[in-house]
Amino acid sequence: MRRALWILTSFGLALSSPARAEAPPIVIKFSHVAAPQAHKSRAAEHFKKLAESYTNGRVRVELYPNSQLYKDKEELEALQLGAVQMLAPSVSKFGPLGIRAFEVFDLPYIFADYQALAKITEGEIGRELLDKLKSKGLVGLGYWNNGFKILSANSPLYGPDDVLGLKMRIQASKVLEAQMWAMGGLPQVMAFSEAYHGLSSGVVDGTENTPANMYTQKMFEVQRHATMTNHGYLGYAVISNARFWQGLPSDIREQLERAIADTTPVANRLALEENTQALEEMKADGHTTFHEPTPEERAAWIAALTPVHDEMASRVGRDLIDRIYAATGRLTQ
Ligand code: LMR
Repeated sequence: MRRALWILTSFGLALSSPARAEAPPIVIKFSHVAAPQAHKSRAAEHFKKLAESYTNGRVRVELYPNSQLYKDKEELEALQLGAVQMLAPSVSKFGPLGIRAFEVFDLPYIFADYQALAKITEGEIGRELLDKLKSKGLVGLGYWNNGFKILSANSPLYGPDDVLGLKMRIQASKVLEAQMWAMGGLPQVMAFSEAYHGLSSGVVDGTENTPANMYTQKMFEVQRHATMTNHGYLGYAVISNARFWQGLPSDIREQLERAIADTTPVANRLALEENTQALEEMKADGHTTFHEPTPEERAAWIAALTPVHDEMASRVGRDLIDRIYAATGRLTQ
């Protein structure tokens, strides 16, 4: 009898206890490889703030920058396994997963400027590419820019011939590999977290990246020269694990999608500002000399690199490349 009473009382207490009424928040572990002060981190912080407020605290976003949990390749595996719930990897890193079409973003000089790029990332083609992630158990939620890449090394790079024989760090993309071969460079795939060490120890001689990444990873300290080629795009796909995402209560999922959509313009603005500011800081620092190509030099870079479009057409899709030309108003390479 006393035991029955105890059970009834505790059951009643449990029902009336406010602590029991509140479900624990859904935790989203958001992992990425950029430095804590980098624009990707600040975009992720903005998303966290919106996501937690739009869901009235029913979601908690935990941020893990700087490869502290996983490096490039591992983070994609961790997401597929459900060890983390969100990532924003560079679109150049999906090839090893078997989704080659994303490497179209790596084709040199495919986007003349940010307006041309936005026609893809904010349009039908960008959406179709994100949908391809489903086949790998992932869901593509949007694009956040970083910016346009420049080339760097310890020797001056006035033209493609100056890259001849240089070991160049790249992201894991076959198109980027072909791009380095096109200049006679020797591409070396290396995780982002290892790029600084690779450059400082001489394992590689040079690299390509955006001014923001070159600055926040301190690569400028170990590269004496850089050329403002702006030859290729570097940007991110915000992604989640499809099973996790589809399993969320629909009202929560909608609010999270709203938080991502509202973060995207902020992320793109932060990236643009940081790329401009990083370049100024690095110029002022003086470790690296920045070279602005003359119109003739620029023409030589374009002539050496654009044949990669045809060379890689069978890998990324001829039709996709032609659709991008048409959508961006680029009639021919
Ligand atoms: C790189 O590996 O160079 C970049 O993709 C890193 C990043 O996330 O910006």
